[in-house]
Amino acid sequence: MSRKNTEKTIVANWKMNLTVGEGVSFARQLNTSIKANPLSCQVMIAPPATHLTPMALALHDSPVKLCAQNCHYTQSGPYTGELSAAILKSAGAAAVILGHSERRSGFNETNDLVRFKVAAALDAGLKAIICVGESEKESTSGDFATLVAERLMSCIPPQATPETVMVSYEPLWAIGTGHTPSIDRITQVHQEIKSAAKLSIGPSLKVFYGGSVNQYNAPEIIRSSAVDGLLVGGASLNVESFFAICASCP
Ligand code: PGA
Repeated sequence: MSRKNTEKTIVANWKMNLTVGEGVSFARQLNTSIKANPLSCQVMIAPPATHLTPMALALHDSPVKLCAQNCHYTQSGPYTGELSAAILKSAGAAAVILGHSERRSGFNETNDLVRFKVAAALDAGLKAIICVGESEKESTSGDFATLVAERLMSCIPPQATPETVMVSYEPLWAIGTGHTPSIDRITQVHQEIKSAAKLSIGPSLKVFYGGSVNQYNAPEIIRSSAVDGLLVGGASLNVESFFAICASCP
């Protein structure tokens, strides 16, 4: 079934949380809830990579898609401990989150490295969700939205299209803090990103918001026409709160 262009996307980013058994049980419960109450949005879960295949089996009859949280910039080779986009796809991933601020700050990922990884993901047939945002200090500057859009453009390889690449705007100061920007501020950055990406990627780039989304603030954020989806960390670890966020999509 082809999906409407206005349809929103909700992505669960589990980070380094939940065991394989807990992930499979979450997938089964979510699938049961969706069957009882069909959702109007596309749902994706990004579990640890070890969970992809068992969760793909648990979700074989479900519209929920799986996503990886990182990939290497080549498809194979002598890189002990690493996972390529091709390997993640074979394990059940349909997409991969790249450039998350936790990887930029904790693993020294630069815009150039993120761009190489996005290219590798697209070459392997995965979609890429590119995260980008500003630090607390940067957020006080008048042109922070331009800075975020420029940072994003450095992460885009030439083969990116609106069908293969999505963006998640994630202010660093909002991740895991309980603080979220005002809806006007989110809208401003999303519009800036969309207009910066118009020429190189295309006019219909999807831009999500991420950072302290929960079931209480999700309804207002997701109703903005500039917001095409949400990337949810902490509140996605509980199936009830994650389902409530998904169900808040118009
Ligand atoms: P949070 O995480 O929802 O826990 O703030 C979001 C993210 O890091 O993507």
